[in-house]
Amino acid sequence: MNKKAILLAGGAGTRLYPLTKIVCKQLLPVYDKPMICYPLATLMLGGLREVLIISTTKDLPMLEDYLGDGSRLGIQIEYAAQAKPEGIAQAFLIGADFLGDSGASLILGDNIFYGKLDFYREALALERGACIFGYQVRDPQRYGVVEFGPDGRAISLEEKPKQPKSHFAIPGLYVYDNRVVEYCRALEPSARGELEITDLNSVYLKQNELHVKLLSRGMAWLDTGTQTSLLEAGNYIATIEHRQGLKIACLEEVAFRTGCIDQSALERLVGALPKGEYRDYLKLVCDEGPTAYHPEPVA
Ligand code: DAU
Repeated sequence: MNKKAILLAGGAGTRLYPLTKIVCKQLLPVYDKPMICYPLATLMLGGLREVLIISTTKDLPMLEDYLGDGSRLGIQIEYAAQAKPEGIAQAFLIGADFLGDSGASLILGDNIFYGKLDFYREALALERGACIFGYQVRDPQRYGVVEFGPDGRAISLEEKPKQPKSHFAIPGLYVYDNRVVEYCRALEPSARGELEITDLNSVYLKQNELHVKLLSRGMAWLDTGTQTSLLEAGNYIATIEHRQGLKIACLEEVAFRTGCIDQSALERLVGALPKGEYRDYLKLVCDEGPTAYHPEPVA
């Protein structure tokens, strides 16, 4: 796999005001950890090790303060600013130098996935084209929507259609080959002045180079776009964590279980953590060692 990752964590967060007056949306808590841990864990579990985090100039210092250069997690994290929220696809223009010749996976910093991530690893292994996903939701008009023809192939993509042609929303997780920057350079801003991710995906669709994989109903793709869905996401995470006694998207654990850091590095991390439940949990992970039973998924 020759792919790097972009985690887009900008935007004004207006829909969650006043929660987002001081802290950006992606640092708001989802139960017991900041929201950004969940998409970052997804990238790490996919096998990606080089990540560019894009956010506003206001919010970057706080994100950087929390995650640093990634070395404590055995990965590389770089940062770049998006001056204005001019579209999700703009992430590839901002990240062009970071990506160089490599393909890219993009995840939105407010998207939470929980379940077996084989679908993502398979997408990352594709050499050519792009891959997006479809997930059945009750309210597809709030998302990008994919329509399928009788043979099961994707035939259209629409951004927030008033009359959705299917119940399949497109989650904020995307995989592209190394033509993505070139294609983004040719995109025109939409009526709302944004470089639309749906327009980028439509370029691949027109060329017959868009793979659309449906996520199984056993996967959880959680929304954090409204106060209610943010609370529901937190409750979901709390429910699973309490039931299993395992944490979802605990970055230090993910780094350890994916081989980004070894046991002695984890021990050092645990030693530096403040006393509390999070540290106690990681101490257990560390004491159990790398061969301990740990069912998929970690996140
Ligand atoms: O969550 C999946 C959906 O995400 C997709 O189904 C849609 O096709 C896609 O357009 C997007 O829809 P949203 O309504 O969630 O887009 P929103 O503008 O809220 O942006 C999503 C996240 O990306 C949000 O946390 C802010 C961030 N963002 C967005 C834009 C437009 C940026 O950091 N920069 C931007 O320029």
